[in-house]
Amino acid sequence: MPDGFNLQREAERGVESVGVMAVQREAPEEFEVAIASAIAAPEAFGASFDELPAGDELELGAGLEGDPAIAFRRTLGMFATGVTILTTRVGENVHGMTANAFMSVSLRPPLVLVSIDRRARMNDLLHEGTRLGVNVLEAGQAALSDHFAGRPGAEDVEPRFELVHDTPLVEGALAHLATRIVRSYWGGDHSLFLGQVVYARYGEGEPLLFHGGRYERLVRDQRVFSALPHELLEPILAHGVERRYEDGAAIMRRGEPGSELLLVVEGEVRVERPGRSLMLGPGELVGEIEVLDPVGKRIADVTAVGPVRCVVVTREQLVAALEADPRAAVGLIEVLASRFRETA
Ligand SMILES: Cc1cc2nc3c(=O)[nH]c(=O)nc-3n(C[C@H](O)[C@H](O)[C@H](O)COP(=O)(O)O)c2cc1C
Repeated sequence: MPDGFNLQREAERGVESVGVMAVQREAPEEFEVAIASAIAAPEAFGASFDELPAGDELELGAGLEGDPAIAFRRTLGMFATGVTILTTRVGENVHGMTANAFMSVSLRPPLVLVSIDRRARMNDLLHEGTRLGVNVLEAGQAALSDHFAGRPGAEDVEPRFELVHDTPLVEGALAHLATRIVRSYWGGDHSLFLGQVVYARYGEGEPLLFHGGRYERLVRDQRVFSALPHELLEPILAHGVERRYEDGAAIMRRGEPGSELLLVVEGEVRVERPGRSLMLGPGELVGEIEVLDPVGKRIADVTAVGPVRCVVVTREQLVAALEADPRAAVGLIEVLASRFRETA
């Protein structure tokens, strides 16, 4: 059964329950306004687009000088977001647009919101009933983001789409939502479009992030000890003791205190955490971060896949090894320092 089927049912149930809960249905007036589908939706409200209450000018805090619009934009840029490509079908073509002004709104019914510049072509294409795809980009898709933001880059981008619920979805995105526009609102020089989600799915991977006007990515690289040169790692592991696990045995559990570093010598282990799972085999290390953290908790479930033999180094053994050879301690500091350089 496709994921979308369940969500659709959830959506229908949600809509029904809104009808039953009369008290909760007291919604702001604009919710009751019908949208003329022939007109770009917010225009249908007859709203005054450019009038703002007098005396409410934007005041900039100390240290913020120059063009207030730029200062405002930079302030907003401090809010770190993911990046989406919004997609809609135009006849036999697809129109896509990069947007980070996306938010979740409601679970029942499932609703999301996007904010679109009134000058964008996408703004003219959306109205009540239009299908809108929201494609959450994966860390390696910055070129795709630039492409749909109208910023030609060095990299050739050839996006591919699949149609789900008559909604074009970008292949290879980290998560997909197919929505139907149900309302739209005035948002100054932007329009706010509320979409009811009719299909949702996500895969595994890291998201592309946007912060301070540039792309960023999560650094969840767990390698610390395994980045050490062999001659510094060997003596540390020599302090450990051997341990064996049966097939299916829980080696580590999320949330448990973690004070052991584990080297897989024989067999394989499965490392699982939300949105991410991987297999590790002989020569690979598990628990590299937690063993350095005196109050560290396990962030993943680790299970033996087949019989597993490993070497376990406790925190105490690790400290003894580092005292015996401070070059290894310096090596670890260098590995961690390079991690910060990577994100700067
Ligand atoms: C990371 C990033 C996020 C963006 N977010 C938005 C947004 O949320 N809303 C918006 O209207 N434009 C946003 N833009 C700008 C649009 O992608 C850009 O103006 C695009 O060319 C509009 O496409 P269209 O006019 O073909 O529909 C963003 C651009 C980038 C690079």
